[in-house]
Amino acid sequence: MQFIDLQAQYQALKTEIDANIHTVLETSQFIGGSFVKELEQQLAAFCGRKHCITCANGTDALQIAYMVAGVKEGDAVFCPDMTFISSTEPAKMFGAVSVFCDITKDTYTLSPESLEKQIQAVLAEGKLTPKAVVAVDILGNPCDYDAIDAICEKYGLFLIEDAAQSFGASYKGKRCGAFGRIATTSFFPAKPLGCYGDGGAIFTDEDEVDDLCRSLCVHGKGPGGKYDNIRVGVNSRLDNLQAAVLLPKLKALGAYEIDARQEVAKRYNEAFAGKFVTPFVAEGCVSVWAQYALLADSTAQRDAVISHLKEAGIPNMVYYPTPQHALPVFRDEPCYGETFPNANDYCARTFSLPMHPYLKEEEQQKVIDAVLEGLK
Ligand SMILES: Cc1ncc(COP(=O)(O)O)c(C=O)c1O
Repeated sequence: MQFIDLQAQYQALKTEIDANIHTVLETSQFIGGSFVKELEQQLAAFCGRKHCITCANGTDALQIAYMVAGVKEGDAVFCPDMTFISSTEPAKMFGAVSVFCDITKDTYTLSPESLEKQIQAVLAEGKLTPKAVVAVDILGNPCDYDAIDAICEKYGLFLIEDAAQSFGASYKGKRCGAFGRIATTSFFPAKPLGCYGDGGAIFTDEDEVDDLCRSLCVHGKGPGGKYDNIRVGVNSRLDNLQAAVLLPKLKALGAYEIDARQEVAKRYNEAFAGKFVTPFVAEGCVSVWAQYALLADSTAQRDAVISHLKEAGIPNMVYYPTPQHALPVFRDEPCYGETFPNANDYCARTFSLPMHPYLKEEEQQKVIDAVLEGLK
């Protein structure tokens, strides 16, 4: 059994994927090309955004978003304490400071209360300039954008949505990727929309931001083209081969994969209700279940279940074992008295189970039986 069965998905989409790859090979359009253009249009339409700029991976997409926000030395960037390091890494890279915020107890996404408390603490101290907020739709579950948008507006902060795990999820009828002045996503193979290597994308509704991202992705190119460099940028682009793979996958995601993920999550929820803390999806939200994470009673119970799953040959993961503030690289970042009770508790008790749209009922039953057996 696979944690995420990319082979099963390939077999379902093989004819289209193979034909598209063949077209790329026949035309030798490896950089740029018609699939990249078509994909950008379809991704923007999928999220209800005006522009989509594809790039080399989700980490680059975030770094470019930080560059557009103008994050620099002396700035504070507010990020959730429970995420993957890509969400927060560019702050330090640009000489700014990551100010971590706790997550909510139920959705595990950025807590609006902790965010506002941290912004006020930074303002009260008067050393750093609050600049941006990175809201991460962790595990595929959307953040509370009504609350976060209002806070960003109140304090004049640049909102970046990190939708690396949430492509296909939605918040109050709007798809993830549609929030913030910029949203970013990742096409890492294991993501809800994954390619066959690395890939990423940036979304915005603003024409100037679109122009700036396209310039930054190509060494800061100017109106005269790639040898007319007007700013410092990076080299970050999505290969035509990856776009060729992503187009049929995007169609499948919209047509049936999002629904299939709901079915898998529902069966897990029913099986584990009352035995573990099962995931919470707020009203009006649809998670795309990048991960299905349970909380055990304690670290000891979690580790005992994991060790039983290993013996039973059931793949499992811990996303994530360490909150950002406790990572060696961030230990010196100021916490402003925040003790991150929810993030610490989540990381100490969480474990994730196989979750993908091709998980058969009988396979899932094996997972459920092994988890419940591990509880004994
Ligand atoms: C929340 C989050 N943000 C950003 C990224 C970075 O994406 P990539 O691996 O494509 O660089 C990831 C990847 O795991 C992620 O989980």
